[in-house]
This record gives sequence, C-alpha cells and structure tokens, in this order.
Amino acid sequence: MNCAERLVSLFGSQAEVARRLKLDRAVVNNWVKSGYVPARWAMEVEAVTEGQIEAVEVLNEANLRRPVRVKSRGEDEIFHGISIAGSENMNPYAPSKRIRSFHPPQRTLMGPGPTEIHPRVLTTMSQPAIGYLDPVFVEMMEELKGLLRYVYQTKNPLTFPVSGPGSVGMEYCFVNMVAPGDKVIVCINGVFGGRMLENVVRCGGVPVVLEHEWGTPVDPSRVEDALKANPDTKIVAFVHAETSTGCLSDAKSIIEVAHRHGALTIMDAVTSLGGVPVLVDEWGVDAVYSASQKCLSCTPGLSPVSFNEAVVDHVKARKDKIHSWFMDMNLLHSYWGAGTRTYHHTAPTNSLFALHEALLLIREETLEDCWARHHRHHVALKTGLEAMGLSFLVEEQYQIPQMNAVRVPEGVDEAEVRRRLLNEFNLEIGAGLGPLAGKIWRFGTMGYSCRPENVMLSLSAVGSVLADMGLPVHVGDAEAAAHDAYASMHKAAAQQKKRAA
Ligand SMILES: Cc1ncc(COP(=O)(O)O)c(C=O)c1O
Repeated sequence: MNCAERLVSLFGSQAEVARRLKLDRAVVNNWVKSGYVPARWAMEVEAVTEGQIEAVEVLNEANLRRPVRVKSRGEDEIFHGISIAGSENMNPYAPSKRIRSFHPPQRTLMGPGPTEIHPRVLTTMSQPAIGYLDPVFVEMMEELKGLLRYVYQTKNPLTFPVSGPGSVGMEYCFVNMVAPGDKVIVCINGVFGGRMLENVVRCGGVPVVLEHEWGTPVDPSRVEDALKANPDTKIVAFVHAETSTGCLSDAKSIIEVAHRHGALTIMDAVTSLGGVPVLVDEWGVDAVYSASQKCLSCTPGLSPVSFNEAVVDHVKARKDKIHSWFMDMNLLHSYWGAGTRTYHHTAPTNSLFALHEALLLIREETLEDCWARHHRHHVALKTGLEAMGLSFLVEEQYQIPQMNAVRVPEGVDEAEVRRRLLNEFNLEIGAGLGPLAGKIWRFGTMGYSCRPENVMLSLSAVGSVLADMGLPVHVGDAEAAAHDAYASMHKAAAQQKKRAA
C-alpha cells in the first residue's frame, strides 16, 4: 500500500482524511489516483497519524514518484556545464522541497546583536575572493591590525581577529592562558560571566566564582577580598558590558585591583568595543576579546583579540601544550604575526575585507564621535521608553548606552510583543535570558543600527503595539520626548562647539 492508500485505510474514507488534514476531498482523491502523497504534506501526515505514517516514508515515496529539481533560476540557464546524464539518480538525497535563492527580509535590528551592516561594509564583502596569502591581502591584514589597535586603544603587537564568533575569542583567551590547576577568579553578573566559568572548568582551571546579582556591576572590592583570600590566583576574568542585563562594570578599577595582587586579567569587550571607551593600554587590560557583529557593525564570525606582553610571556612559559590546536597563540601567530606568513587555516577572506571596512568607518567617524553617537541615541531612546512608562533594569550610572534593558510591564505577553514587532514592523528587539527571560526586553543601539530613524521607529512600533494591547501608552508623547531629548543634546553640542572655536 502506498501512503495515500494507508491514510484512507487508517481513517476509513477519503472524506475523513480530507477533514483531518483540512483539505478539499478532491485533493485526497487525486493523491489516491496518482498513488502518492506530495512531499510538502509529509510533516502533517506524520502528525495527523501520530507517527503511524512517518514523514520520511512520505518523502521517500514522493521523491521517487516526482523527483525534486533544485533550481533557483530558469531551466535553461546552465552555470556549471552540461549535467552528466544519470545524475538525477542522486535525488533520494536531495531536499524534498523546491529551494530557491535566499533573500532575507529587510529588518531593522535593534536587538543585542547582530546589528545592521553598513552598506559600505556589505559592498566590500562582496568583492572577488583572493587568496589568504596573496600579497595584497597580506597588506590589508596589516592595516586591519592597525585599525584594531586604534579601536582597542593599544599598541599590543598581538592584536588580530580570530576566525570565529565572540565565543571563539573567549575560548582563545582561556585556552591559552589557563593551564590545568590555575586558579581563576570569575566574576559573574549575567549570562556571559557564566560562559567564562564554563571555559575555566573545561581548561582544568580552579575557579573562584564571584556571583553578583544580575543587573548590578562587578564590585571591585569583592574582587579584592577574593584575591586576598586566594593569593595564588593567576587570572581575574570579567565581562565589561554584560549584554544579558545592560550593565557596565568599572574595568579600570577591577584591573587595578587584580594587578595589585599579581593577577592577569581577561576582559570580555564583545558589547563594549566601539560603543563605550575600551582603553586597553591606559587601563592595563592584559587579554581582551570582542566580536565583529555588535558596535563594529560587521558581519558575525570574527573575534578581535589582543594580548599584552605579560600574557604573551605567560603563554610562552607554559610547560604543557595548549589544549587546542586551532587556537594555540603560538601557531596562530605564524599567520597573523608581522614576519613571514605561513598557512595556519584558511582565513575567511571576505569577512576580513568587511571588518577592515567596518573599522575604517569608525576611524573616519573617530572613536570619540562613535562613543558620543551611541550615547546620544541611548539618551533619546531611553527618554522615549520612559515616557511610555517603561523602566530600566539597571541603575542609570551603570547603564550601557548600546544595550538598553527595560522591564516588561506586568501582565504583558513579552513574546507576543516581539512577534508583532517583527511581523508588523520588521523590527527585531531582544528577549531576556536566563532568570530574566520573560521579564525584560533588550534594545540594542549598536553600530550602524544606532541611528535616529531606528530609535524613532522602535519607539513608535513598541508604543503602538503596547497601546493596541490596552496599555495606557501615548505613542506621540514618547516620540515627542525623544525629539526633545535630541533637540537639547544638539543644542548643547552646538554651544560646546561654539565655545571651543
Ligand atoms: C558579552 C558577550 N560575550 C560573548 C558573547 C558571545 O559572542 P558570539 O555570540 O559572537 O559568539 C556575546 C554574544 O552576544 C556577548 O554579548
């Protein structure tokens, strides 16, 4: 029996099959006549028969009867030469649905990252590929390292982008710096401190965990107490800007305390870099990592890292082999170092073109103006959100301008709000994580997403959805409050410019 006949036999009649699948009876009749159920119904058939007819059976049968042709373009267009006769035999492995070129919708990204990508970065990324040891590419790598040193405000020679997202940069720091048995103080005030702990454990380190209430900053005096109680501590690790809560910690004080007790520091600057000052040399940060997709407005998948000399010496002095081949600092240096370059891994060349352009944009804007832009749009967004009656999770002095966490009003289905923002306004904002799931929304004003039109759209979209859900929100008041905030900031900036002239 084929699947169509089995369906009829299971439910007693074609009419009953049609009723259960919410289809016209003629459709089911057609399945029975043609002897198979089309592949697109596979999941529904499995669900409605509670697995008595599995989706895979429907798919296999349908594929045999009507092989799927995967073509995104006209049938006559041939790109890769004439197809070899008989290649259709591979079809049992082909996807069951017809697949076309992917065109993502145009969204406004106001979540915790990724951010929108500047058109100049997108254009650069789509340039022809070149080899990762091509002399032109090698020259670009040097410029890229120079631009990274600028955004990190450091002269560290070992500053480069690791191939991989921010999590890889995090692992790169821990796997190189933490040897089995090393004591590491891990400051946790949100999700990403928790990930640092996970790294320490996996490296065989001995963690000393300093838990803080989520939404509060890391307390340098608690770090000092922990260092006094654990004088053999090798490393203090902390997140500068905790994306899960929108809370900024005082990096300079934490580092100062760590150094006073002879410990090195690992700082997560994934959300902070480019949005607020990250002064690697001035603060004496020993190891730092970030990510390309937040305030740097680049495509995800690259993690800028920087080690100072103390860290390089510390890693070189290790007696054991680094427990990751890919992330071994010494080996990576053979590709990213200044001397003769040798193959380490195939670098993601086009993503690196993109990062070069993204950093160049910051260089042109200047870091100070880039920080000021993040602050300005944060103030406008915050003024508007507060005018709607929404309150911030974090105390004002610790708020991260580029990561705004606000409490979900009592009784509001926060997921429904985000769904409507996406469906009705093409606007993405972030949800709460861990213990804050369902309790906060996170509005990112990062990188290229940090623009006045995005702030105003966010306010009017969120305001409209909340008002529509019956909350006493006046969208116009929120927008007016944000406009007023912009106006007074522009006025103050103009006066300051006048005074400076
Ligand atoms: C503070 C922080 N650290 C680390 C990460 C991990 O970065 P990625 O998602 O690029 O791996 C994130 C990501 O959002 C982050 O916000």
